[in-house]
Parts: sequence; structure tokens; C-alpha cells
Amino acid sequence: MTVLVTGGAGYIGSHTVVELLQAGEQVVVLDNLSNSSLEALKRVESITNSSIIFYQGDIRDNAQLDAIFVEHKIDSVVHFAGLKSVNESISLPYKYYDNNVQGTLNLLAAMERASVYKLVFSSSANVYGTPDTLPVIESAPVGETSNPYGTSKYMVERILQDLATSNEKWRFAILRYFNPVGAHKSGLIGEDPNDIPNNLLPYISQVAIGKLACLGVFGDDYDTPDGTGVRDYIHVVDLALGHLKALEKLSSINGAEVFNLGTGNGYSVLEMIKAFEVASGKSVKFEIKGRRSGDIAMSYANPEKAKSELNWEAKRGLDDMMADAWRWQSQNPNGYANR
Ligand code: NAD
Ligand code: WQD
Repeated sequence: MTVLVTGGAGYIGSHTVVELLQAGEQVVVLDNLSNSSLEALKRVESITNSSIIFYQGDIRDNAQLDAIFVEHKIDSVVHFAGLKSVNESISLPYKYYDNNVQGTLNLLAAMERASVYKLVFSSSANVYGTPDTLPVIESAPVGETSNPYGTSKYMVERILQDLATSNEKWRFAILRYFNPVGAHKSGLIGEDPNDIPNNLLPYISQVAIGKLACLGVFGDDYDTPDGTGVRDYIHVVDLALGHLKALEKLSSINGAEVFNLGTGNGYSVLEMIKAFEVASGKSVKFEIKGRRSGDIAMSYANPEKAKSELNWEAKRGLDDMMADAWRWQSQNPNGYANR
């Protein structure tokens, strides 16, 4: 099977490409490298001892997309390409709707021209906004998002559902990721934020390695066991494996199906700091700050649907997430460095 992976040089994409290659699939990657480095794909090739067909290009470039579908007999598409900063999306909404929504529309139109109808889409727990009930199930209300990033994911979900209604050939697996963390156990690939990290784990890692002085903990007065925010952190390799299960399932999906990819467990910010200290042997200096605007107290998944219908569940626990995040950070203090 030949799989087109958009955004395959990025954090989750590169880990998924490893698993696809190791499962014997042919992989074609399309990535504009706006938030990634070719070095990641070189390292994927060395981990897997196989080669990747790579196109540096944009999902908004129709000619590029058509050329790829002509040159390769693509069976299905795993669509990671997109922008993901909640903060940036608030100040640059057009950029996010253009990249994430318009970009996906272009991709879908090119797929239709090439008669390729199977796609796995990277959505986000962000579409749930502030969940009413925990753990969150797929049928919970969506769309009350607090930022254009989350809204762009919600809009694409709706577009996919409408396309599935319009033409029964379409098969979509919409995967709502919770909080991906960790890295491949080789220490060769991992998350490489290009600025000061917004997300918790990369920030903790950079404090531990001495690149940042102190972690700000955004609020200790939430209605949670220790007052700090609780999230469902999922190892990126488990997440990657979820995409392989979704691809297997695509042929038997009727239209569009949504799956939560999470562990079902919630950990607080303070628990995360402690676990990282244990895994790394480093101390992580932190300071309690005010709440971050737009944050919610708690979010964790009900992952039962993915378990029963995709035959997938997260296997890696918090210790693995932390040990692997630290191996990546300590072996690559400057990430991929040359990007
Ligand atoms: P990432 O930024 O590391 O990877 C995204 C990749 O897409 C990058 O390599 C980037 O260069 C590429 N890209 C962006 N716009 C493109 C375009 N127009 N054309 C071609 N390539 C383009 O992010 P990630 O963490 O690997 O996330 C992958 C996907 O999963 C994204 O769609 C993101 O919104 C979604 N997601 C991420 C998280 C998370 O916390 N990391 C959570 C939920 C959902
Ligand atoms: C986790 C917890 C913070 C940083 C975001 C997106 C979501 C998804 C994953 C893409 C919260 C606290 C964080 C820091 C802190 N991405 N925190 N100090 O906000 O759950 O989710 O990333 O789809 O859509 O919204 O993740 O890692 O930013 O925060 O105290 O410096 O850590 O308040 O409780 P979040 P996060």
C-alpha cells in the first residue's frame, strides 16, 4: 500500500512514518517544512533503514498535489499538514483558516480528481472546548472552541462529514488527539519547537536541560486534585500506531467516523513535573503563575471507541513518555539544529 503523508516531517508525522515503514508500507511525504526539518526524515530513514519519497511543497499548491497523485498510485492519505499554535491562531486567524481549512479543501479536491477517497485526519481534543462531562466521549458537543486553531479543526471535521454524505466513496477517520508527548525510543526523532515552547512537556524539558530558567505553572486554583490543570498525555508512538489502525479500518468505515486517541488517564501539571524529575534525574524549577487565558481545568478521553472499533489502545505509560522525552532532549539539546 502507498500512503501519502502530508506534514510527514513534523512531530507526529515523522513518528507515524517510522511505524508505516516498519509495517512495510510505501510512504510519500509532502511537507513545506514550515515547522519541520528535512533532518527529521533523514533520521526516520536511518531508524527504519528504508527510503522515503519526499516532496517539499504545500497542500495549497494544486499542481504539486496533482503531480504527486499522477506519479504515485496512492491508496490513502494521512493528513497531518497544518499549523498548530493556539496563541498564534488568535493573532493570525486568516493564516490558520487558509492553511488548515483551505489547505484541506485543496487536498480533498485533488484526491477526488485522482479518485483517492480514503483519508485519516488529525483533529484535536480542542474541538470539545470545555467538556461538560469527563471522560470525554466522541458524541460530546463540539464546536464551542475558544480559538481559531480549534475552530479550523472543527470546520474541517464538518467538511469531511458533509463530503461523506455527498458521495459514499469517501472514507474518513477523524482522530481527535489529546496531548501528544514523548519521542521515539531511539532518541533520534522528537518534538522540536522552533521558539519558546507553548506546550508543557517541551517547556519542562528545556528547563531541565538548562535552556530555560523556570517553568511558569499556569494556575494552581483549578477545581482539580492539586489545583493545577489535568490533561490526558499520550505517547507519540502510541498515537502513531493509532494511525496504522485507522488506516486498516478505513475500508470498512461508512462515511466519516470520529475516534478519540488518548489514554483515559489525567495527570496534573505538578504530577508531570515530578514524573519528569524522576525520569531525568534533574530538578525542574517552577513558579506558580496566573491562569493562561483559554485554558480549561481538566480534559481526558474516553478511549473505548478506538479500543473496540480500531483494536487500538495506548500501551506506554507516563514513565515511558518522560524517559523518551528526556532521551530526545538530552541527546539533541538543540533539536534538529540545522533547520
Ligand atoms: P508539526 O508542526 O510538528 O507538524 C505539522 C507539519 O505540517 C510540519 O512538518 C509542517 O512543516 C507541515 N505543514 C504545515 N502547513 C503545511 C502546508 N500548508 N503544506 C505542507 N506542509 C505543511 O505538528 P504536529 O504536532 O506533528 O501536529 C500534526 C497535526 O496534528 C497537525 O494538524 C496538528 O494540528 C494536529 N494536532 C497536534 C497536536 C499536538 O499537540 N501536537 C494535538 C492535536 C492535533
Ligand atoms: C497542558 C497543561 C497548561 C505550559 C494544547 C492545545 C491542544 C493540543 C495540545 C493541538 C495546561 C499547563 C502549559 C506551561 C503550564 N494541540 N502549562 N505551563 O493547552 O492542553 O493543549 O496542546 O491540537 O489543542 O490546546 O496543552 O501542553 O499547552 O498545556 O502550566 O508553560 O500545562 O495550563 O494545564 P493544552 P499544553
